[in-house]
Parts: sequence; C-alpha cells; structure tokens
Amino acid sequence: MKSVCIVGAGTMGAGIAQWFATNGIKTFLTDNNQRVVEAAKQSISNSYQRLVKKNKFTQNQVDQSQANLNYLLAIEDIPKDIDLVIEAIVERLEIKKELFKNLDSHFCPQTIFASNTSGLSIEKIFHDLPNRLSCGLHFFNPAPVMKLVEIIKSKTISDEKLMNLHSFFLSRDKVPVIVKDQAGFICNRVARNFYGESFRILNDDDPYQMNLIDQTLKHVGGFKMGPFELMDLIGVDINLNATKGVYESFGHHPRFAPHSYQVKSVESGRLGRKTNNQGLILGRLDESVSFFNIFVPLKAEDNHPPQIIDYDELSHDYPEDSIVFDKTRFNLEEKKQLITILKERNNKIISEGSHLTKQFTELSKKLNFDVCATNFYSKTNTIEYIQNLDEDAICQAFSNHQDRNVFVRKNHLSLGLIFPRVLIQIIHEANIAFDEDLASKKDIDLAMKYGLNYPHGPFEWEELIGKEIYELLRVNLMNSISKKPNRYSR
Ligand SMILES: NC(=O)c1ccc[n+]([C@@H]2O[C@H](COP(=O)([O-])OP(=O)(O)OC[C@H]3O[C@@H](n4cnc5c(N)ncnc54)[C@H](O)[C@@H]3O)[C@@H](O)[C@H]2O)c1
Repeated sequence: MKSVCIVGAGTMGAGIAQWFATNGIKTFLTDNNQRVVEAAKQSISNSYQRLVKKNKFTQNQVDQSQANLNYLLAIEDIPKDIDLVIEAIVERLEIKKELFKNLDSHFCPQTIFASNTSGLSIEKIFHDLPNRLSCGLHFFNPAPVMKLVEIIKSKTISDEKLMNLHSFFLSRDKVPVIVKDQAGFICNRVARNFYGESFRILNDDDPYQMNLIDQTLKHVGGFKMGPFELMDLIGVDINLNATKGVYESFGHHPRFAPHSYQVKSVESGRLGRKTNNQGLILGRLDESVSFFNIFVPLKAEDNHPPQIIDYDELSHDYPEDSIVFDKTRFNLEEKKQLITILKERNNKIISEGSHLTKQFTELSKKLNFDVCATNFYSKTNTIEYIQNLDEDAICQAFSNHQDRNVFVRKNHLSLGLIFPRVLIQIIHEANIAFDEDLASKKDIDLAMKYGLNYPHGPFEWEELIGKEIYELLRVNLMNSISKKPNRYSR
C-alpha cells in the first residue's frame, strides 16, 4: 500500500491518519469543516512533539511522518488512483451512504473503500455500490496507540484482498482480525455483558454496589476499569446506544436487553463525566461510607497460621473443630446438607461457591460460613471472597493456603459472586459468536485483548478456568432463572 485518504478529521480520522503517516504511507486527510482540518493538523503535530519529548521518536522521524501528511478540504484535490479510502465521519447510515456515493464518482475502480463505523452494517453502508471493493476497518481510540483493527468482510471484496490488508497491518505492528459483518463486530458484541451482567448482579440502583462490582472486576478479574466507571467515562448514553444497536440487530435477545438502571440514568441526564460528573457512580457516592473490602496480600511468614483442612467430594470422614475448605461441587441442596453437617461438628467453613448462584451467598449469610471463588483465574492472582465469619486471620490463612491474594468483601450487600458471573457471560457470548462464524477463536481472543485491554481473551480464559467449570456455572445460572430459554442458554 502506498497511499490512503481519510475522510473525517475528527477524533478517529486524525488518529488513523497519524498512524498511516507514521508508517510511511502517503496520507490525505479531509473533512467538510475547515476548522476541524486545522484542529487535526495541530493535534497531530502536538502528538508528535510529545513523542519526541518522551524520546519515543526522533525529530527526523517526525519530519518524515509529517511529510507524508496532506491536509485538504476538497475531495477533487485528492489523486484518483489512491489505494484505500477510509471514512471516519458521523455514525449515521444515510450520511455515510451519501458520502460514499460521491466518493465513488471520483476514485478509480481499484480503490478500496472502507468504513470505520463502530456498529453500522457494512452491507447497508455499501448497498448502493455493488461494484466497489469495500469493507469495514474498525480502529480503536486512540488509533495511533491501540493495536487492534477489525477488518470486516463484505460481499464485494475477495478474501485474498482482505488478507492483503491483514498482512499490511500485521507488518506494521497492528493486530488485525477478520470479522463477519454482524452487529457489534467482535469487541462491541462480546463486551456487551461485561456491562449487562454487571447491571443484572445489582440488587438495587445503588452506586455503592456498582462501585463494589467495579473494584472486584479490577482486583480479581484484572480489568483495567470497572464497567460502571467506564460507562461514566465514555458516556452512559453512548454505551446504552451500543447496547440498543446490538439488541435490535439480534432480534431483542434477552442477553442484550438494556438495563432499566442505565435507561433511567440516561433519561435523568446523568451521562457521566460529560454531564458535570453526574453519572451511574459519579456524583452519587458519599465518600464517608466504607465498602467493607479488604485486599489481603500473601503473607510470606506467619509463625502460627491457622490450619485449613481441604474437604472434597471423595471424603466422607467429616472433620471436627477445624477450619474446613469445602471444595465440593454439589448442587445447592447437597451443599446445604454438607455444610449443616460440618457446622454441627463445630467447624468454621470456607466454601467454594464459584459454580453456584446468588442463593448460595444468601445461604452463607444465614448459616454463617465464608464463600470463595478459587476456580476463576486472572493475571491478578486474586480470589474473590465473601466473609461472614468475621475472622481476618482465616482470610489471611486462606490466602497463604491458596498461595494467592484474597479480595475480601463483607457480605453486607447480599450480592453473589461477581467475577464468575461476568466472566461466564463474556465466555458465553464468545462461544455463541464463534458458533455463528463471526471470527476464529484466535481472532476473538486477540480482539478482546488488543481492542479492549482484557487481561485474557475469552477462549484463553475458558481454558484457564476449565471448560467443565464454565459449563457447570453456565447451566446453574441458566436453571436459576427459568426453565425456558434465557440469556445463559446455548
Ligand atoms: N470515537 C471513538 O472512540 C470511535 C472508535 C471507533 C470508531 N468510531 C467511529 O468513527 C467514526 C467517527 O467518529 P469520531 O469519534 O472520530 O467522530 P468526530 O465527531 O470526532 O468526527 C467526525 C468528523 O466527520 C466530519 N464529517 C461529518 N460529515 C462529513 C462529510 N460528509 N464529509 C466529510 N467530513 C464529514 C465532521 O466534521 C467531524 O469532524 C464514527 O463512525 C464512529 O462511530 C469512533
């Protein structure tokens, strides 16, 4: 590839143009608004100067990159035989269609047209141009930094040409993935239930619970930001629109249903940072209220740590007067019976609860035992733990026993185990998407890691926790809702 034209010089267009110019491609950046073109020129120049200051680029590299950039207003001034045109204008179907119709009459037939749409159908965008080579090229913000590019298939372009684009990006240190033209592509679809499931875990429209979910997903799950703080950052309305778009496209499937708390937040004008810091959490927390969360790091030396006895389904020799780690994978009724027996024998119990639902954590409150989720791995090496016994020494001993950190929550807010539920939904959606031929497992994993900074791809995570655990929890969640097909069904 030698030359590219970017139409739309806003946030994305300017970033995409900067990336191409840096990578030695002759780049034309255009917009129908003169002021935007000038602002883009300034912001790209500032960005390069910051890179020089940080010693990431030499002035010579910057000069070469800048020399590749041409800022224009009129399409007519752009060479007709350019290799690729990328559109990054407003996210409105009719406006994008109109633009491409105009561009079609200017550029030669070999020029590939691509849209950077976040969620519109590529087929619909290019519907009126059946003879034009076209596809989607979905970059992530900030485009010069974020490595992922979703290459979206279309009927008018051969697999060979798409693979050429794939090879081009790969050779320039981007992470390209090939995706079928389906709503949300990979990232915006597979990530939906990072938000959706988090909303469904809530007992109430309560910012403290939202904050707790955020903290757990960061400390235990290893996500850079929690879902609620992320929505407040990006815009609660922007996120809701993405959910609605996918929900519409998938025939109102319950797994994409927008949540009433999010709708309420948007309707009341609480959109996050952009509305004067009023959002789902922003502007609603009283800092003086504590969250009862304790992060227990591994303590290397403890001279007299309480001993913990592992108890699993193979053993029927019930211990007495001990701290017992119940590792059994029974159903709720059987677990209840086992815990009752263990308690009668004067044991203090920590119970593996990752495969059970909210009812189990409710039971833990009633029968007074601790609950943990040791089966769920992430790079944080941290276990989610609900404390009812009120003995910090037990949490510390458990941390040592497991050789992992423990993130403790006192069960004042009767939420279930958070990370297992959210993770199961992400893996679940990835599996459905793969079955529908959306993309390869490898590309789905790459997309979630390089587009959204997830610590693992969903299929890597499925391997780490084990397919059996994933399936066990998914089925338990499915049955806990109803006998009818629901959002956990396959
Ligand atoms: N912002 C993101 O994080 C992000 C990420 C991925 C994809 N996208 C998608 O990229 C596209 C652009 O988003 P953005 O955030 O850069 O928007 P933006 O509002 O910052 O920029 C859009 C630009 O397009 C220009 N424009 C509008 N109509 C035009 C026309 N007919 N001809 C030429 N220029 C025109 C506007 O003047 C504006 O400068 C959208 O489709 C969006 O969904 C955005």
